[in-house]
Amino acid sequence: MQAITLSHRPKKAHFSNDFEITHQEIPKPQKNEVLVKVYNATITIDDINIAEASSLGGIPLTSPPTNKQPATPGIELSGIVETVGVNVTPFKKGDAVFGSVGFPIKKNGAWAEYCSINEKFLMKKPEYLSFPQAAACAGSGMVATCAIAQCCNIQPNDTVLIIGASGGVGSLAVQIAKQKRAYVIAVCSKKNEALVKSIGANRVIDYHSTSFAETLKKENNQMDYVIDFVGGKEIEHDAFSILKPRGSFVTAVGPIQYLGDKKLGWSGIIKLLLYITTRIFSSTFKKQKYVFVSPTQSVFPIFKELIKTQSIHPIIDKIIKFNKPEIKEAIDYVRSHKARGKVVVEVVPNEI
Ligand SMILES: NC(=O)c1ccc[n+]([C@@H]2O[C@H](COP(=O)([O-])OP(=O)(O)OC[C@H]3O[C@@H](n4cnc5c(N)ncnc54)[C@H](OP(=O)(O)O)[C@@H]3O)[C@@H](O)[C@H]2O)c1
Repeated sequence: MQAITLSHRPKKAHFSNDFEITHQEIPKPQKNEVLVKVYNATITIDDINIAEASSLGGIPLTSPPTNKQPATPGIELSGIVETVGVNVTPFKKGDAVFGSVGFPIKKNGAWAEYCSINEKFLMKKPEYLSFPQAAACAGSGMVATCAIAQCCNIQPNDTVLIIGASGGVGSLAVQIAKQKRAYVIAVCSKKNEALVKSIGANRVIDYHSTSFAETLKKENNQMDYVIDFVGGKEIEHDAFSILKPRGSFVTAVGPIQYLGDKKLGWSGIIKLLLYITTRIFSSTFKKQKYVFVSPTQSVFPIFKELIKTQSIHPIIDKIIKFNKPEIKEAIDYVRSHKARGKVVVEVVPNEI
């Protein structure tokens, strides 16, 4: 099969130059795995950070790839079941499925013609989602569901400010908050205003022309929840300044802006982990809460219900072909944090 492979760990910002498309053996599914013929995969900032070991300030989440043991990145996929492991009962050959490879990130990821994936991370693709759309929400949907439906207890008409509302995760979060009948204020660029309004945002604040905190403070407008998909200490500070006394700040990114852009030493990593745990711990005593989004299996049933009720309609920025120049360009584009929804790879052409 054709697969995108790395034969060494790329240095920061070198991923797009360092990968190859190579011929690899089709993986054999383990007892609880399903071999999927991949129709679509996605390129996310986390694929880049994990490959370059720059997530969490440089903590390597995988051992480095080598010439003998190359690694294939890719977290999210959709496709058709090819074969199943001996213990797998819910799926059979020919089923249309989607899912994310889960943690720990595997050596054989989704950027390949075939991917073997644990059945617990896989779902049947509903008719209403195309294969590209299904891939586009496989992992991002879990993060958005965790942020909105698990970390918050949104009641109708609660005010929810979503920072980074036009991104792959943020645009799903807007839809889930809307489904909970919240009043949603989206923070994004003017150019994305129509898009985020079309998926349910009641109001948009353009972060290029004004500070959301200043704007809302002038109006004496306090939020029940601030959901952060951009990160950074400044955003955290601004968010707390506009929260209600019992409001919650929910972040999927944390204190370092674009977590991963800085390489930390061990002392930096310890400081960062302490920073997050201290905030979470101290907020159990405070009225305003700090919540770090870390999805677990428990989010799966809530996500499945959202899919069942067709509450999620993923936004696709572009669909690219499975070739080196397009993938290289897409990696650099995703790294810029300018994507409007998701960048999807067409591994196998599909019109079904
Ligand atoms: N905790 C977890 O388990 C977990 C899991 C997955 C992802 N994440 C994190 O979630 C974050 C969001 O991911 P994503 O895939 O949606 O990607 P993203 O590529 O970071 O989002 C891109 C979007 O963010 C907007 N944006 C950039 N800077 C902004 C700012 N200062 N204010 C408001 N909007 C801004 C961009 O709009 P403009 O072009 O208009 O600027 C663009 O539409 C990432 O940092 C990712 O690492 C966390």
